[in-house]
Amino acid sequence: MTRHFLTGEELTSAELVSLLDRALELKADRSASSALEGSSVALVFERPSTRTRVSFEVGVHELGGHPVVLRGDELQLSRGESPRDTALVLSRFVAGIALRTGPHEVVEEVAEHASVPVINMLTREHHPCQVLADLLTLRERFGRLDGLRLAYVGDGNNVTRSLMVLGAKAGVEVAVATPARLALSGNSTGALMTEDPAEAAEGAHAVYTDVWLSMDDDADAADARRELLAPYRLDAALLERARDDAVALHCLPAHPGDEIASDVLYGPRSAVWDQAENRLHVQKALLEFLIGS
Ligand code: CP
Repeated sequence: MTRHFLTGEELTSAELVSLLDRALELKADRSASSALEGSSVALVFERPSTRTRVSFEVGVHELGGHPVVLRGDELQLSRGESPRDTALVLSRFVAGIALRTGPHEVVEEVAEHASVPVINMLTREHHPCQVLADLLTLRERFGRLDGLRLAYVGDGNNVTRSLMVLGAKAGVEVAVATPARLALSGNSTGALMTEDPAEAAEGAHAVYTDVWLSMDDDADAADARRELLAPYRLDAALLERARDDAVALHCLPAHPGDEIASDVLYGPRSAVWDQAENRLHVQKALLEFLIGS
């Protein structure tokens, strides 16, 4: 059966642990696997990207495969060809399809009609590849995931949702602090939801934040959001509420002075650059798991 990775719900807890174990092996030896030898993987970007683009392209190459990088405006998708037809056609050429787009329904439609694995490289609702890298970073720092407490502060967005989904699978206690107006609707993961950033950060092993204005948000609302979210800035005072060995996380790109203080982003408790690097290793493990076998 073709397996996809759209939200993280597709993995069992045991598979998630195995994936992170394998990512650590691939990090220790970047040339350890040639699982994609002779295969091509389509990487479709309908939204801008730095980390996802480079880590997937390098990752497919390091696994011995050929990355076919496609920008949305180069594809007939941009002229109205359906995600269904795009999936049917790409499946005739490549061994896997990874897609960054806006509406989550697009990756769902591609997955429904593709005969090869489909990976979500970000939608408005989910960013599960990012959270695999975040979990790998925590695992490296603390040697385990089960029982850790992760606080997320700021805008309730796709990263927040994926942290809740995959955090629960990994046994991580997730606490989310957002203004009521920006809170996610629905919470079936058992995450703590609060409006108080200090409550979320209390005793946490990691405090995580993300941009205050995501790619598909209304740019005209930037000033109002900045005012609403100012109490949620990840700064030294908020990090003090967490454990002494707590790390600061951010999926990037960052806006120092807005959602994260510059001295935290570039300071000794920042694990942000490890998070970025870990995209490569964990996505290689994911590609191997979905396509290589
Ligand atoms: N974190 C992340 O997805 O980065 P990019 O938008 O640069 O890919």
